[in-house]
Amino acid sequence: MTSIIVVGSGVAGMTAALEAVDTFDVTLLTKADLAESNTRYAQGGVAVVIDDMADPGAPTLGDSVASHVADTLVAGAGLSDPDTVGILCAEGPAAMDELIGRGVQFDRHDGELSHGLEAAHAHARILHAGGDATGAGIAYALIDRVRASDVTVREQTTVVDLIVEGGTVVGVTLLGGEQLRADAVILATGGAGQLFPYTTNPAVATADGLGMALRAGAVAADLEFYQFHPTSLDAPGNFLVSEAVRGEGAVLIDADGKRFMLDVHPDAELAPRDVVARGIAQQMARQPGIPVRLDATALGAEFLARRFPNIDAACRAQGYDWGIVPIPVTPAAHYYMGGIRTDEWGRTSVPGLYAVGEAACNGLHGANRLASNSLLEGAVYGSRVIEGLRDSQPVAAFDADWLAPLDLDLTDDPDAHDVSRADLQQLMWDAAGLARNGADLAQAASELKRWKSPEVTDAKAAEDANLLVVARAVVATALAREESRGGHYRTDYPQTDPAQARHSAIAARDDAS
Ligand code: FAD
Ligand code: SIN
Repeated sequence: MTSIIVVGSGVAGMTAALEAVDTFDVTLLTKADLAESNTRYAQGGVAVVIDDMADPGAPTLGDSVASHVADTLVAGAGLSDPDTVGILCAEGPAAMDELIGRGVQFDRHDGELSHGLEAAHAHARILHAGGDATGAGIAYALIDRVRASDVTVREQTTVVDLIVEGGTVVGVTLLGGEQLRADAVILATGGAGQLFPYTTNPAVATADGLGMALRAGAVAADLEFYQFHPTSLDAPGNFLVSEAVRGEGAVLIDADGKRFMLDVHPDAELAPRDVVARGIAQQMARQPGIPVRLDATALGAEFLARRFPNIDAACRAQGYDWGIVPIPVTPAAHYYMGGIRTDEWGRTSVPGLYAVGEAACNGLHGANRLASNSLLEGAVYGSRVIEGLRDSQPVAAFDADWLAPLDLDLTDDPDAHDVSRADLQQLMWDAAGLARNGADLAQAASELKRWKSPEVTDAKAAEDANLLVVARAVVATALAREESRGGHYRTDYPQTDPAQARHSAIAARDDAS
């Protein structure tokens, strides 16, 4: 093996490229600027067992890998894979030391690494940078390293499909038709927030890697599990109001100024993300037209501006002085637990194809991701995929009992009409959003069959084709899971069913076009 193509320039893709460059000939492709990614917008931070870091400023907090693992497994609602969780938590401290070595400047107080608390974490183990600009701190440090390295970088370069020969991925096709070949293709294409009209994700998050992988015959897993963040600013753009704000003590109040989450869960505002998101949605339904508000006023304007400078600016841009008035918040699509099925080395079910970061599903997040575990995932697994490639283990061996398989029929109805992105997003929000039910999902499935993939003449058409195939897969898997678990909530099956405590998987039929 000599050459590698990495698709995507978030934390996962850039980490992989940097790890690989001393051994392989590496080409990094990204569809916008290097900096444009979910990574760049990440706020709250990175969860890690700080005690185990080698950094001289790492404080002793009484935290442990076992505790981080336990919190991650609880958030995953019975579906997180203990092996991939264990790797994440055990290898996390070294990965953060590596990021610091690559120039990431996490916030410090008197030289000691600062550390915040977020929902469902037993310890205040969240490293952050620039207050609430952790993702930017990581992205720009890695960009500097990538630009200074021998990685061949091509920005504004959209990958539209994988080249498969004899069942093996041998390269990629770019928008416009150019083909690039390599011994391995690593998809680090990030999430799928643009499946929904309200999302914290930037415009590039259109599930491209997942769409391409499904068309190439790869198995995808857990596609019914999507995470909605409880608190985005209720204003165009849905700017994220980090969980760390609630971690610092902000509370959610209803139209009467009452803390309604106290009646929903013993941990109130710091309950698991899906519980808080649904609690807010239910409260919104009870007080139509009057927003739910996040009251951070007790923290004081000076603290808020210093600790959360970007959220502070976003609030002020909407006319809110959140040091004085509670701000309107609403749930928004945020993170995809499901993705291209991989093992702990990023290997997919198709030889030559690898996936890491939010585009992948190695089982780590299960039915719900623990806050601040995904930047960590990108750093840990972005590195591991290259370690695995150096060992030249071409095909993943998946546990047979891991999968509950479903077929994805990719054939378009000849009478179907071109997909409209806005219609698709609204359909997904209504039928496959925070609360789902069998009747709406079945209706959505038949509606999605009436839309066909557009001809790929430009980048938007390529994205729409991916959103359509992924939307069909999400709806099919959400319909098949007749229980509620983590990010998947069915009003017609509100209980968790222990018999369904297994991952789902979906792949295109062999005869798919
Ligand atoms: P991304 O960072 O999304 O990168 C994907 C890359 O792929 C992009 O460069 C994109 O342009 C490129 N790409 C996509 N399709 C193509 C294509 N067809 N051709 C070429 N290139 C393509 N997680 C945390 O752990 N802590 C946090 O505090 C946190 N805060 C967040 C706040 C916000 C507002 C958001 C949106 C997410 C947050 N997350 C956080 C989640 C986290 O940021 C992401 O899960 C993580 O950064 C994903 O990294 P990635 O490298 O897998 O993908
Ligand atoms: C946040 O800052 O609330 C986002 C953290 C995350 O998604 O992990």
